[in-house]
Amino acid sequence: MMQSMTLFKLKFGLTSVRMRNWSVGISVMILTLIFIILYEQPGHRLTNKNHTVDEFDVEGESRVQEPAKKPHLISLEDLDYLFSNNSVYYKEEDETNGFLVWSLMRPFLERLDALPETGQGIEEAALAMKGLVSLINKEKRASGMVSMKARRACPDFVNADLSNVLELPCGLSEDSSITFAGVPDEHSTSFQIHLVGSGILRYDVNFSKPSIVQNTWTEKLGWGNEVRCPSHGSFKNQIVDELPLCNEQTSRITLEESSNEDAMMDDFPFLRGNPFTATLWFGLQGFHMTVNGRHETSFPYREKLEPWLVSAVKVSGGLKLLSVSATRLPVPGEHHASLAIEEKLKAPSLSGTRITLLVGVFSTGNNFKRRMALRRSWMQYEAVRSGKVAVRFLIGLHTNEQVNLEMWREAKTYGDIQFMPFVDYYGLLSLKTVALCILGTKVIQAKYIMKTDDDAFVRIDELLLNLKDNPSSALLYGLISFDSSPDREQGSKWYIHKEEWPLDSYPPWAHGPGYIISQDIAKFVVKGHRERDLRLFKLEDVAMGIWIQQYNQTVKRVKYMNDKRFHNSGCKPNYILVHYQTPRLVLCLWEKLQKESQSVCCE
Ligand SMILES: *[C@@H]1O[C@H](CO)[C@@H](O)[C@H](O)[C@H]1NC(C)=O
Ligand SMILES: *[C@@H]1O[C@H](CO)[C@@H](O)[C@H](O)[C@H]1NC(C)=O
Ligand SMILES: *[C@@H]1O[C@H](CO)[C@@H](O)[C@H](O)[C@H]1NC(C)=O
Ligand SMILES: *[C@@H]1O[C@H](CO)[C@@H](O)[C@H](O)[C@H]1NC(C)=O
Repeated sequence: MMQSMTLFKLKFGLTSVRMRNWSVGISVMILTLIFIILYEQPGHRLTNKNHTVDEFDVEGESRVQEPAKKPHLISLEDLDYLFSNNSVYYKEEDETNGFLVWSLMRPFLERLDALPETGQGIEEAALAMKGLVSLINKEKRASGMVSMKARRACPDFVNADLSNVLELPCGLSEDSSITFAGVPDEHSTSFQIHLVGSGILRYDVNFSKPSIVQNTWTEKLGWGNEVRCPSHGSFKNQIVDELPLCNEQTSRITLEESSNEDAMMDDFPFLRGNPFTATLWFGLQGFHMTVNGRHETSFPYREKLEPWLVSAVKVSGGLKLLSVSATRLPVPGEHHASLAIEEKLKAPSLSGTRITLLVGVFSTGNNFKRRMALRRSWMQYEAVRSGKVAVRFLIGLHTNEQVNLEMWREAKTYGDIQFMPFVDYYGLLSLKTVALCILGTKVIQAKYIMKTDDDAFVRIDELLLNLKDNPSSALLYGLISFDSSPDREQGSKWYIHKEEWPLDSYPPWAHGPGYIISQDIAKFVVKGHRERDLRLFKLEDVAMGIWIQQYNQTVKRVKYMNDKRFHNSGCKPNYILVHYQTPRLVLCLWEKLQKESQSVCCE
């Protein structure tokens, strides 16, 4: 099995040589060799390697083969490696060190009641770290030679003309798109498109009963609920990024029509023997398929289908594929464009400043553009530049080592990144929340601690004004849900099994795009997890609500401060915080604030 993966990588390396030039090809070969050496290490468990493309043999019309389910136990060997005294990350004690929380996290990962993805996240992180350490050492030896070439390892555009597989070297980010040109065979019964990452997304076009069926497979949950177009079921009115799940015209296809190909010619987007161009576009809430210029289907992201970890797209079945290409892929910023600008964007020194607020921004490896947009916008508030407010990105490792290398460079350049000793899965977010509490109490002493996301815009000035008149302890501030219940819809990103939360409602909690807690609560969270008094729960914002309720019951009465100017999605004037903002919108909001000195929206 490992042999075939290696062969696949080598083949891909050779294609690159033809496609671009020798230097890229050679660097791909070098990386391939590093890869082989890493993977061939004796004694290393390879529990998760089933997530690579070639092992899902989707040739012909067969279904994707389901790998054996295996529990992911937390491996001591991996933990030892991650927390060993590796010179790459323990030596530097300066403020740009991205491993300040990392080194304190071990006791919090060794729990028997760990979140389900913990074992996998740690195991993959150990592998990723080995790759990163070896790349860094190589770079040090070659003094910059690798860095020149590696920069192109996360290209903006990739394509494949002759192959049914397209590798996405650094994953996808919002606004990326994949374009297919092809002709369904005259006698085709169906064809499939698969996105392969931490799970699989299957896009199935069926001609025998004209329909498009989308579904996901994950190791933990197996196949989820199908989303079918034309739809006659419960998904009918669902909206993703303001688009319907199915095009209305396609939805009009009735059962009688679908047995008569001529009758549905105008309505079904794919026709046997007719060429088409289809584009899969990645939005904020899900992805969308356009065929010959018309929007056809949308599909919300699901748990374990993290778009940033999608590593390949594969086409199979009765389709003659003419070309497939991906564009607007995540590209690292040019960190050495101008030293003056770099200096302005660098995190200010914290020594000797009293910190009022620590803002932890949850981000993920290849969201380079989002982080740059925040550095150029609300991270330029005077309060941030003066060090009164500290902003840090909390990021897990990526499964792609080039992405990790770029992040490591970014951390050195801007000094505002803290790495997590696990790979970023939705299911591990509340471990990040614990890490943020550790950062705000053990590393940086902050009066208040805020959690936000890398697609949120925060008016730091307004926030500080509002905090001023409030107690400095036992406080939760944000958009609070006082009466909410668990989502029992399997496959949803927020799905909660009865075993995880048996009650029909949650205690009050503040929405994840932005909430603030006082330091005493953060301390309680850290202590509670060290002593195993607090339970882990995968929805980080609800988890915080659960922990705070415990604080309220056992320590001190909590003030729940609800503010409707924190917007969960979309923008409204006079906001304090808005969520789901693209980098372009984030920069636009900042520009408007500078010009009009009040918060107005951009769209
Ligand atoms: C990968 O999947 C195959 C079945 O497709 C299974 O036999 C094998 O044990 C799996 N490997 C690992 C490491 O889980
Ligand atoms: C790492 O080194 C420091 C001192 O350099 C030492 O205090 C610590 O115990 C070491 N940790 C491990 C895991 O070896
Ligand atoms: C296409 O749809 C028909 C009718 O629902 C079904 O029997 C068949 O298995 C489907 N083909 C594939 C490849 O999914
Ligand atoms: C917090 O504690 C007070 C009593 O001290 C109680 O009245 C209130 O309902 C509690 N709030 C929550 C959310 O548990």
